[in-house]
Amino acid sequence: MPLPTSKPVADSHDDGISPVEQPVKALRNRFFRVLAASTLVITMIYGLQRLSRSGLPNFFRPSCWKGIHGSAPLLPTHFTLPSGDKIPSVALGSWRSGPGEVGRAVQTALKAGYRHIDTAWAYKNEAEIGEALKASNIPRNEVWLTSKLWNTFHAPEDVEPALDESLARLGTDYLDLYLIHWPVAQNKDGTLNKELTENNYPTWQKLEELVAKGKIRNIGVSNFNIRRFEKLTSNSLKIQPAVNQVELNFWNPQPELVKWAKEKGILLEAYSPLGSQNRVKDSLDVPEVKEISQVLGITPAQVLISWQVQRGAVVLPKSVTPSRIVENLLITKIPDRLFNTLEAVATSHKPERSVDPSKKWGVDIFE
Ligand code: A2P
Repeated sequence: MPLPTSKPVADSHDDGISPVEQPVKALRNRFFRVLAASTLVITMIYGLQRLSRSGLPNFFRPSCWKGIHGSAPLLPTHFTLPSGDKIPSVALGSWRSGPGEVGRAVQTALKAGYRHIDTAWAYKNEAEIGEALKASNIPRNEVWLTSKLWNTFHAPEDVEPALDESLARLGTDYLDLYLIHWPVAQNKDGTLNKELTENNYPTWQKLEELVAKGKIRNIGVSNFNIRRFEKLTSNSLKIQPAVNQVELNFWNPQPELVKWAKEKGILLEAYSPLGSQNRVKDSLDVPEVKEISQVLGITPAQVLISWQVQRGAVVLPKSVTPSRIVENLLITKIPDRLFNTLEAVATSHKPERSVDPSKKWGVDIFE
């Protein structure tokens, strides 16, 4: 009579493994299961970290998992102008993007998803930008194109020829936005035209005509302070300026202008958002900017660019470096507490402009 055993003998011999080998096999199986699970978990964590660092959508950022973006995690991708047109909130800036590099920068930007390119007659890069736009094969109506009227073309008879030159160089028959580059009119020899500088209305009337002709969709100004802007709009304009493109960055945050623009419903565009080439390093090294970048898992440049959009401005970071062009497009809402910290620290020091040709041109532009 067989003795009662805990395991039937036949079972232990089913797979040809002796009772002595069985615990070893069980242990081995468990080891491989644990190894497989750990490998899977490690791979997932590593993958998510890579995604987070590569600047992919907010969802992958640790900050987003903590829910610190609050109820509205996204910043506007567009702002709506009085005409009803929607202008993309981030553009590729091209001031100082030179020949041989600006075309490649535009191509990189368009591939990365930019649909807004900012240029000017005076940047001397419109032709190369036009070629890059053509080479991209992106339909014209999918890209927002801004250019600017230079100071020596403010006389009404000079405005249309200057615009036509920009259109020809850019290879297009209309601009989405055309700006008076500076509130400064210069004669052909570079001397100041005082009359047209103090009264931009004749120049503006010409721009209104060109909108009616279909060569421009929206018109605006650039580098106008509040007084100069209000002086222009005190005339009975057919079309109000859609934007004012100004220097806005950590060193020159212009809180009064930002507040005034918000109250009046005027869209600001922020040029040199990183402090321009001379101050970009200082900007990225601001302790509060670095701190916010760490909390949000984004780069310092992305903090500064996001900050301007969150203040209500279109932002125009300039770069000719492919990785930076891609980086600069990815904006993130900054939680209110951190946004207020950045606003406070930026507005608590003496403002410093990186661009002010007042002395050179013999007129106190910003007064
Ligand atoms: P580069 O064009 O060689 O990439 P701003 O937009 O304030 O005028 O700043 C432009 C300057 O900042 C350029 O010198 C540009 O260099 C540099 N820049 C642009 N994007 C970044 C970035 N993400 N990180 C560091 N520097 C940048």
